[in-house]
Amino acid sequence: MGSGLVIGCHRSVLAVRGAVIPQACSDPLVSVRVTPGDLAPNNERVTILRAHLQTAAHALLEAGCDDALDEARLEVEVLYAEASGLTRAAVLARVSDEPDAAALETFEATIARRLAHEPLAYILGRREFYGMTFAVRRGVLIPRPDTETLVEAALAAVRAHPAARRLVRVADVGTGSGAIALTLARHAPTAKVWAIDESTEALAIAGRNMRTFQLQSQIVLLAGDLLEPLIDPMHVVVANLPYIPTAVVETLAPEVRDWEPRGALDGGEDGLAPFRALAAQLPEHLAEGSHAVLLEVGAGQAPEVASIVTAAIGGSASLHHDLAGIERVVEVRIGY
Ligand SMILES: C[S@@+](CC[C@H](N)C(=O)[O-])C[C@H]1O[C@@H](n2cnc3c(N)ncnc32)[C@H](O)[C@@H]1O
Repeated sequence: MGSGLVIGCHRSVLAVRGAVIPQACSDPLVSVRVTPGDLAPNNERVTILRAHLQTAAHALLEAGCDDALDEARLEVEVLYAEASGLTRAAVLARVSDEPDAAALETFEATIARRLAHEPLAYILGRREFYGMTFAVRRGVLIPRPDTETLVEAALAAVRAHPAARRLVRVADVGTGSGAIALTLARHAPTAKVWAIDESTEALAIAGRNMRTFQLQSQIVLLAGDLLEPLIDPMHVVVANLPYIPTAVVETLAPEVRDWEPRGALDGGEDGLAPFRALAAQLPEHLAEGSHAVLLEVGAGQAPEVASIVTAAIGGSASLHHDLAGIERVVEVRIGY
């Protein structure tokens, strides 16, 4: 080992939650050699940042918060960057330094939250979606990359609509953080979007995001059940409704099952109840002439959802695949 001091889990994040991860301290990735210059002025041993980061990453892995060490390391680096006000690149450039005490304390508190399976996005209070940063917190679904497939398809439907040069009326049903409504509004300037949710907690976050992106002139926030609160007929209806069968919700990762709102996940016994309820409301809320309905669905649900929608409003369905090749969006366009 040469002449350097070998230091390990001293003052590690593990102390914060009283957890003991026996292997972590003896892991070669965690034990780090430093020179005697790393002794603090009071002659106490110090632990360089790398050791704290690696100990935390191992703890997340051991607790089942992440599936792979690389994933855990990334989360840990992001959380230390957040705690210290540094960029991730700056954190990586300082891994051989002693960490700032205040940053370390904040970091350890956030690692304790993550070890309780709180999703990273809730800890950070934000999530990237379609190139925009959305505020999120417990009580609102964290936007998923799969939903970008729905946004792409909906943007195409809005731009192709005969009213595209004037004003296209769009409903985003179950808006949550406003991820779909706000990306559509930003990328389709002639769209006016009615963003509806039954959860007032979700609407509060959607409102906050709307103000952050300064899209108030294009967005109307409405509380209520599906399309019921609407007065004007819609050219395009877009929805990412809950579609996970009740029994499956129980089998999801604790990050989702225990932290994200049940009302955003649970689609009833077969996962399709919200689609049936929406389909029943569609005929009276679609504009005369040209209109489109686009729905995000779970894996394997597309054929059933397509027939639910076409039985209600006619037309024929086309399907859009996500990046994993799964049929993710059912679209029914009528009159254009
Ligand atoms: C899967 S989340 C989608 C959130 C957001 N649109 C997104 O894609 O990230 C479903 C949303 O639908 C809302 N919701 C569920 N049932 C509803 C209903 N009957 N009427 C209105 N909103 C509903 C939930 O509160 C939740 O915010």
